[in-house]
Amino acid sequence: MSDKIIDGKLISSEIREKVKKFGGQLKSKTGKVPGLAVVLVGENPASRVYVKNKIEKTIEVGFTSIEHKLNEKVSENELIDLVDKLNNDKNVQGILVQLPLPKHVDSDKILDRIKPEKDVDGFHANNVGKLWSGLDSLVPCTPLGCSIILKKISKDLSGKHVVIIGRSNIVGKPMAALLLGMNATVTICHSRTKDLESVCKTADIIVAAVGIPEMVKSYWIREDAIIIDVGINRVERDEKKILVGDVDYNDCLKKCSLITPVPGGVGPMTIACLLLNTLLASYPQFGEPTPDLSSILE
Ligand code: GUN
Repeated sequence: MSDKIIDGKLISSEIREKVKKFGGQLKSKTGKVPGLAVVLVGENPASRVYVKNKIEKTIEVGFTSIEHKLNEKVSENELIDLVDKLNNDKNVQGILVQLPLPKHVDSDKILDRIKPEKDVDGFHANNVGKLWSGLDSLVPCTPLGCSIILKKISKDLSGKHVVIIGRSNIVGKPMAALLLGMNATVTICHSRTKDLESVCKTADIIVAAVGIPEMVKSYWIREDAIIIDVGINRVERDEKKILVGDVDYNDCLKKCSLITPVPGGVGPMTIACLLLNTLLASYPQFGEPTPDLSSILE
């Protein structure tokens, strides 16, 4: 493997090992095992794959997996009742409602119904507010995974210019908050940004989370830029369906200093961070002091 390629599979497996170890210690101390409830609505093929992987990895680290697969036509009230039930379930420390939800359901209403202390996605308004205020909170898994990668490869982000492409609540916005907390200078770009190419050329680090296959080209980036590709796009090539990121990988690999591949880069980090968040959510619920993140990851 080229030494420019960031091995997300390896980093994520190290994190899952640590989560397993800390989870085991927590069990020895309290006799309790963290439980993660995953709610999947409908038949979205990508969501089904993500949820299957999440459940597999949850069991692998020794946590309890609680699955709720609901029909596409489930009503908003039924979903609210389920979230309330999980909020009050002592065997559930983390709740994840897989997005997107069907159009007839108000996603914000459902996400804000999850108790903030069980909100392992970090999407509840309380957790969002804490993140932006620099307070300890549960942090969205994908940007948390990207920040762990960046800490590993570039110890000090002070003064670095990071360009984030994408302003979603799931990635772009929380990524910006995390990077500001790491003393980076942050520019958030999106579909209305003028001359995105020129902005990208000023970046030490690019985080691409825009959902457009292979949008970022080598002539957009500086020599030696670090590229974090969050995109997971299914495209057809030579009559085969393959996954590509938001970055033209083969093109940018030549010029950048480091890059995350798709698949095998950010994707596995998201799941590892979900398990990390479930562990972090469990300490206060089990009446134990929460170790800080760096002591778990060191
Ligand atoms: N759909 C795509 N990414 C995510 C995520 O990080 N969490 C949830 N709940 N749904 C998603």
